[in-house]
Amino acid sequence: MATGNERETDYLVIGSGIAGLYFALEAADHGHVTIVTKKRPSDSNTALAQGGIAAVLGDDDSLQDHVDDTLRVGEGLCDRKIVEGVVEEGPNHVRMLAQLGVDFARDKEGGEFDLGREGGHSKRRVAHYQDATGQAISEALLAAVAKHANITLLKNHIAIDLLSMAKYGGEEACFGAYVLDRDKGSIVAIVARATILASGGAGKVYIYTSNPDVATGDGMAMAYRIGAQVSNMEFVQFHPTVLYHPHAKSFLISETLRGEGGKLRLAGGREFMDAYHRLSSLGPRDVVARAIDNELKRSGATSVFLDMTHLDAKFVRERFPTIGERCKTLGIDIAVDPIPVVPAAHYQCGGVVCDANGQSTVKNLFAIGETSSTGLHGACRLASNSLLEGVVFGARAAAAVRHTDLIRPSQVAPWRSGNATDSNDAIVVALNWEEVRRFMWSYVGIVRSDKRLERALRRIELLRQEIGEYYWDFKINSDIIELRNLALVAHLIIESARRRKESRGLHYTLDYLEKDPGQAKETVLHQSSGPPV
Ligand code: SIN
Repeated sequence: MATGNERETDYLVIGSGIAGLYFALEAADHGHVTIVTKKRPSDSNTALAQGGIAAVLGDDDSLQDHVDDTLRVGEGLCDRKIVEGVVEEGPNHVRMLAQLGVDFARDKEGGEFDLGREGGHSKRRVAHYQDATGQAISEALLAAVAKHANITLLKNHIAIDLLSMAKYGGEEACFGAYVLDRDKGSIVAIVARATILASGGAGKVYIYTSNPDVATGDGMAMAYRIGAQVSNMEFVQFHPTVLYHPHAKSFLISETLRGEGGKLRLAGGREFMDAYHRLSSLGPRDVVARAIDNELKRSGATSVFLDMTHLDAKFVRERFPTIGERCKTLGIDIAVDPIPVVPAAHYQCGGVVCDANGQSTVKNLFAIGETSSTGLHGACRLASNSLLEGVVFGARAAAAVRHTDLIRPSQVAPWRSGNATDSNDAIVVALNWEEVRRFMWSYVGIVRSDKRLERALRRIELLRQEIGEYYWDFKINSDIIELRNLALVAHLIIESARRRKESRGLHYTLDYLEKDPGQAKETVLHQSSGPPV
C-alpha cells in the first residue's frame, strides 16, 4: 500500500518527555517543531519521576562536589568535560523550569529551594515538587508547548523507522521518519531538517521495571538500524525499591525516602545494608540493588522492606503524599507499615552515541535524554542526574539544529506494506514479548555470568528471526513496532554485556568479579561492528 502521505517540518521530535519538550520550546524560536508521541503526551518516564532534578542550588554545595559525585558513581567511564558542562549549566535550567511554572518545594520562608538527598550524593541537591517532580515538570512543559504557535504535537503517533540516505561521499544523513497514526491506521513520512530522538529508555526489556509501557527503546533501535553508533548498553540501572504488591504495576518507591532516613530491613526487621556499604541504606544504587537481590536469593523471600516507621508520621505523610496515597490504596500506611519492595529495571545509561550537542554519528540525527549516550552517566548514573541531562542537552541540541540543512531525496519513497495481510496470529507478538522480558530478567539482570549471557544470546537470535518474519508478513501496528525495537535493544544489551569481561558499575558478572583498568572504555556497537544486525 502506498499512502503518498508526506508532511514537512523543520525539526521532528520523537517523544514527549522532559528532553523532547524542553528542546521543542527552545527550538521553536527558530523553526517549526513537530513532536510525535506514541500514546498520550504525558505517558513518559519523566512524568513518573518522583525524586527530582539534581543541581547545585544549596549554599553548602559546590559544582566540584556534584562533578566528583557523578564521576565517582560513573566508575571511570564518564566524560569529565561533559560532566563539568552539565553540572555548570544545570542550576540555570532548574530556575528556567521554575519560571515555566514548576512549583519546586522551597524553604520555610518560601525563598531557597528545599533540597532532597539521594544515594551517591554527598550533599542535598535534589530540587523537587513533593514526591511527584516529574509530573509537575511534564505538566508545566506540556502547557507551554500547547500555547506555542510554532509547535505541533501529534499524540497516538508512533515512529516506525527513520528516513535516511547516503549523502554525497557516502555519509548517512537522516531526514525524518515514517510515522504510524494509530487512530487512523495510516502511515505518514514526516520530513525534517533535523530529527531528534527523545523517546526515553527501554525498561520494558525486563519483566520487572519501574518504567511505563512506552519505554521500549524505540529511539535506540531506530538509530541503530540506520547505522548510528550506540554505546554502553550493558549498563542498565536497576532501582532498588519498587513496590512489591500483586496489584501495583511498576510503582516506584523513591530513593528520597531513604534520603530522609528510611531503612531497608529484612522480613524479621533486621537492617542488612551495613554489611554491604558504609553508607548503608543510602549506598549507591547498584550496590543496594545487588544487596537486595542477594538477600532475596539467599532467603527465598519475595521482598525486603523499606521502613519509615521510626520517623515523624506527619513529616512522612506530608513529604511523600503521592507514594503515601498509592500505598494506602493497597492497604499500606507508609508512616506505620514497612513497605514491601524489590529491585526493578529503571534506567538505560547507554544509548545513541552523541557529541556535546546531542548530534549522533548520523548527520542531522540528534538524540537527547535517556535515548542518548553522552558520557554523563558512565557505568552508573547518579540519582536525579537524568532530568538534568534532559534539559541541558535539550537546550544544547536546540541551539545546534539551527545550523542544519535539509538533506533529502527529491522524492520520499512512500511506505509500502507489500503483500502484508492482517494478522490472525497476534498471540505470537504477546508470547515473544513475554519471553524476551523474562529471559532478560533471569539471564541479563542484576547479576550476570558468561553462561547466562550465552543462553540469552541463543534465545534472542531465534526470537528476532521469528519477529522479523512476522514483521514483514503482516500489516504493521504499534505492538509489532515495539516488539521489533524491544528485541533489538535486548540483543544490543546482551552483546554489549558479552563484550565486557569485568564487573564495573551496573554491569556485574560472576565470571569477572573485579574491575579491569584495561577495560575502562565504552562498548560501541554499530551495524558493521559484528552481531546483532
Ligand atoms: C527516585 O526517586 O528514586 C528516582 C530518581 C532517579 O532515578 O533519578
